[in-house]
Amino acid sequence: MAASLDGFIARKDGRVDWLETSDEFADGDAMEPGLVAAFLETIDCYVMGSRTYETALRFEALGLGWSYGDKPTFVLTSRDLPRVRDTIEFHSGDLAQFVNARLRPAFRTIWFVGGGVVSAECLRLGLADEIRYSILPILIGDGIPFFEKLDRDIALHLAQVQAYNNGVVELRYEVRECNRRT
Ligand SMILES: NC(=O)c1ccc[n+]([C@@H]2O[C@H](COP(=O)([O-])OP(=O)(O)OC[C@H]3O[C@@H](n4cnc5c(N)ncnc54)[C@H](OP(=O)(O)O)[C@@H]3O)[C@@H](O)[C@H]2O)c1
Repeated sequence: MAASLDGFIARKDGRVDWLETSDEFADGDAMEPGLVAAFLETIDCYVMGSRTYETALRFEALGLGWSYGDKPTFVLTSRDLPRVRDTIEFHSGDLAQFVNARLRPAFRTIWFVGGGVVSAECLRLGLADEIRYSILPILIGDGIPFFEKLDRDIALHLAQVQAYNNGVVELRYEVRECNRRT
């Protein structure tokens, strides 16, 4: 996900208006649309929490499009939400069982879109191999944290760092181990 430097992925009310920043970092790489598209092609399916899905629905209603193309998109929810595309499937219940028994055999690259509740749940359950964390050049003071209520330490390996000419720094970590706090 993309976060403010102080670690928030959205404002408390869910707004992500701060994602558009106007910084310039002369030594940074350009975020070429072709490279972004090629990267998105490598993703085989998406998994997201219901609140992130609701944000995606709002974006689409505003005419900003659907970011997940025609890839299968699994929405975690215990509620009845509108299914606006054939590619969307709702799931509730045991997430580890769902990912390991249903998704892993069918999809190579499973992208957890977020939000903070789902990213923490995913790490708690030992489901994540990698974390992609983009830091935006802004502080917003308060909001929804990247990892909501993580209850353990998670050792990571920093695998890649890339700085872009819009001031965004992209970090890729490999998950090493989760240690329950005593
Ligand atoms: N900056 C970024 O890159 C980025 C990326 C993604 C999202 N976001 C933002 O993050 C915000 C949402 O984050 P969030 O942490 O509040 O919520 P979230 O993680 O998107 O969704 C949490 C909800 O998903 C459902 N859920 C989670 N795990 C489940 C499971 N195992 N089984 C069934 N349902 C499950 C529950 O809702 P139910 O009540 O429906 O069961 C839970 O309250 C939005 O504002 C979004 O725009 C930002």
